Amino acid sequence: MSYTADPQRYDSMKYNRVGRSGLLLPAISLGLWHNFGGVDVFENGRKIIHRAFDAGITHFDLANNYGPPPGSAEENFGRLLAKDLKSYRDELIISTKAGYEMWPGPYGDGGSRKYLLASLDNSLKRMGLDYVDIFYSHRPDPDTPMEETMMALDQAVRQGKALYAGISSYSADQTRQAAEIIRHLGTPCLIHQPSYSILDRWVEDGLLDTLEDFGIGCIAFSPLKQGILSDKYLKGIPDDSRAAKPTGFLSKDQINQETMGKVKKLNEIAQQRGQSLAQMAISWLLKDERVTSVLVGVSSINQLENNLEALNNLEFSREELQQIDDIAGR
Ligand SMILES: NC(=O)c1ccc[n+]([C@@H]2O[C@H](COP(=O)([O-])OP(=O)(O)OC[C@H]3O[C@@H](n4cnc5c(N)ncnc54)[C@H](OP(=O)(O)O)[C@@H]3O)[C@@H](O)[C@H]2O)c1
Repeated sequence: MSYTADPQRYDSMKYNRVGRSGLLLPAISLGLWHNFGGVDVFENGRKIIHRAFDAGITHFDLANNYGPPPGSAEENFGRLLAKDLKSYRDELIISTKAGYEMWPGPYGDGGSRKYLLASLDNSLKRMGLDYVDIFYSHRPDPDTPMEETMMALDQAVRQGKALYAGISSYSADQTRQAAEIIRHLGTPCLIHQPSYSILDRWVEDGLLDTLEDFGIGCIAFSPLKQGILSDKYLKGIPDDSRAAKPTGFLSKDQINQETMGKVKKLNEIAQQRGQSLAQMAISWLLKDERVTSVLVGVSSINQLENNLEALNNLEFSREELQQIDDIAGR
């Protein structure tokens, strides 16, 4: 099967500016944390990526450790790039990260310059790339001086191995500190990647304001809370779901009565809006202009297509927002 991108691929996607940078990202981006590893069916992932790019999704998010096994999502993505997307490289924003355990010993985890720069080289090799568009510090490392981690990101950009620098899961205070240091080095922090969904609201307690102050974009990960914010678990745990798979990061005890009580009520609001719950969860994030992009993960083309429909219904009434907050306990 050979692939040629749909000539109409830019007709329906919405593109948002990343903070106060020159870069635009699609309102919906695709993450390769699950469903694209060595344990998954390559052709399924390949079809999803084709459909995504055909729908104007220009941004694909990876990390050194995505798989399983760790590294295999980057290897698969590299294969796919070489087969199908090579001629579209300038239309793609590809990100990777380092920060969680990747190889044994003291230099394969955390935020040291030693780990970050070696990991980026390995990621580039696995994907067959000369550069990634965004390189992230995957998480703050309390044992490494912030200056060291930021110097590593700055160096990655100066070497041309990354075009932009990003941080993930840093608190508001850590973000302020990191943004000031890296700006002082001469490389702005482009983007922050936090978890954010209707049921996971920590970013609203200061982080979003900090990002706005510094002109940093925000790409929300796990917008469906790994699938909980969909109709998937309303009648139990399906065999083919992330919660049922041994390699999934969603544990069965997260599908508990309290959470599902909220999900049922949210599902009713979504139905009244004429949306699926997954669509409402995505639209709800995009109502805030500080959210540049919503980073979804999907296991099928159907899910991707369902999620893309969210872009057709982005308005919320004040009453709907209040009801959603009440259910979420905000
Ligand atoms: N920076 C970080 O530390 C960090 C952490 C986590 C994730 N991320 C990034 O964020 C991306 C997205 O995270 P995520 O996969 O947790 O996102 P998510 O969108 O919250 O969850 C994705 C899962 O939800 C289910 N789903 C998606 N669309 C659906 C639909 N329309 N109807 C029913 N179920 C649907 C699928 O589950 P099934 O597989 O069960 O079908 C899918 O695998 C990752 O790939 C990664 O790039 C970053």
